[in-house]
Amino acid sequence: MELLRGIVLLVHLIGFAMLFGSWIVELVNGKRGITRVMNWGLAVAAVAGLVLAAPWGIEYELDYAKLGTKFAILIVIGALLGIGAGRQRKSGSVPPVIFWLIGILTLANAAIAVLWR
Ligand code: HEM
Repeated sequence: MELLRGIVLLVHLIGFAMLFGSWIVELVNGKRGITRVMNWGLAVAAVAGLVLAAPWGIEYELDYAKLGTKFAILIVIGALLGIGAGRQRKSGSVPPVIFWLIGILTLANAAIAVLWR
């Protein structure tokens, strides 16, 4: 069970890497757009995160205030990806506020995961 939970955590981190990694690529290459890999990364992180939010394979209590906050932020990132992709389709570019918020909120969720103890 502990090993299985470790594997799900690894999948969760792959989702984070896909989302944040593809955001960094867009930041550095100057396009600042929304890509399919970002959506996939968010979906992978969401599914694995929800599986990890159930208390199995651990001996300690889960912090549901922390998990609820992460979930709320994830919903906001999902909304921004949707709105940003719509704008990108119509006008060819994503408003900078939306692009930056996606990266900042993704990093915020990783920071909450690691620093909220
Ligand atoms: C973009 C969204 C998310 C990002 C970037 C993210 C990032 C991370 C990272 C970097 C870790 C590893 C930290 C560690 O092991 O100390 C982690 C662990 C974890 N995440 Fe997420 N996460 C996201 C969404 C979620 C959601 C929506 C949930 C569930 C509601 C969730 C639940 C968990 C759980 C249960 C762990 C295991 C460690 C712990 O108890 O804190 N995550 N996350």
